[in-house]
Order: sequence, then structure tokens, then C-alpha cells
Amino acid sequence: MTKSISVIVGSLRRGSYARKIAHETITYFPEGYDAQIVEIRDLPLYDFDYDDPDVADKPAPEEYTRFRETIKASDGVLFVTAENNRTIPACLKNAIDIGSKPNSDVAWKNLPAGIISHSVGRMGGYSSQKNLRLALSYFDMPTPGQPEVFLGQSPTLIDDEGRIASERTVEFLQDYVDRFVRLVEEHA
Ligand SMILES: Cc1cc2nc3c(=O)[nH]c(=O)nc-3n(C[C@H](O)[C@H](O)[C@H](O)COP(=O)(O)O)c2cc1C
Repeated sequence: MTKSISVIVGSLRRGSYARKIAHETITYFPEGYDAQIVEIRDLPLYDFDYDDPDVADKPAPEEYTRFRETIKASDGVLFVTAENNRTIPACLKNAIDIGSKPNSDVAWKNLPAGIISHSVGRMGGYSSQKNLRLALSYFDMPTPGQPEVFLGQSPTLIDDEGRIASERTVEFLQDYVDRFVRLVEEHA
């Protein structure tokens, strides 16, 4: 059966390098895998009232329900994120919070997670990635081990056609996808 991977991009910007990297990385998945970007742009800001049984007049928005169902139906999640102010962009934190409730049915629980961070500087979104790992640490999500993927100077990584310019980076990302796929197979 086809395995489904939800790809979540931590940037809303039209020209986002994270989105370009995500588009390219999707093509590195093997046959039998369907990896698709799950949009997080229209998720309303997280408000626990929506999940609080004591607040009867605020049902969960349809966008929350759809997002949670999509994540739960996935065999794995691949995060590709930028860094804002040394942590993950707010849109990504919002999506993580939405997927983290209700406690009885956490969408992220036990799902294999791949993590790619990037930045226009040299540090490759190090703090963003580490903060993302912290935010996910409650959900028992297995992740590939070393090496982690920190892509620095992202504008130089992508050519005019939106392809990864360097063969070394392609190989590095392909290796990461291969390790992530093995993890997904192990947890199937
Ligand atoms: C609000 C804001 C905060 C930022 N903070 C950081 C940061 O902490 N570290 C960093 O390397 N780049 C930072 N940047 C620069 C981003 O890495 C750069 O805009 C990058 O292109 C964003 O990723 P994207 O192309 O996927 O949208 C920041 C940009 C913005 C708009």
C-alpha cells in the first residue's frame, strides 16, 4: 500500500527557500511513497477553548479537524523549516500546537518525523531545528539519527529553476530521505 508522508513547511513566504527545498526533497522519495505538502497557512491561531469540553460554544474549527485527520492518516511527517528569531516560525508552532490536542488523540503521537532546517546564514537554522525537536519531544516521534540536516546559505543552494544546485547537497538530502523512509518502514 502507498505510504503517505505529510510535508510541513515552516514559512508562509511566496519565495520561501524552505518550500523550494521541500518541493525538491519530495522528489527523492521512492516509488510507493506519496509525499505532499500539507498547507498550514489557514489554520486559525491555536486556542484551547476549542478543545476544552467545558467551553461548549466554541467548537473546533473545521481547519483543525481536517489538519489533524490528515496528519493522523500519514505514515510520517517531514518538517522543512526556516528560522525566525532563533526559533521556529510562528506558523509552524501553531500547527504543532493544533496537532498536539486533544490529549486523548494527539495527531503527532508515534509518527516518524524527518527534520530539515535551513537559513540564509551559515548556521542552517540550527536553533530552529533544535527548538522544533524540543516542541516535538512530548510525542514520541522517532527521527533519523545523525547526520542531521542543517542547510546554510540557502539562496546559494537553489538554482534559477528551483533545483538543488550542488550534487553533494542532493546526495546528502537523498541519504536523509532514505534513512527517513527506513524509519517509516520500521514503524509501519
Ligand atoms: C522575522 C524574521 C526573523 C528571522 N530570524 C532569523 C534567525 O533567527 N536566524 C536566521 O538564520 N535567519 C533569520 N531570518 C532570516 C530568514 O532565515 C530568511 O528570511 C529566510 O529566507 C526565511 O526562510 P524562507 O526563505 O523559507 O521563507 C529571519 C527572518 C525574519 C523575517
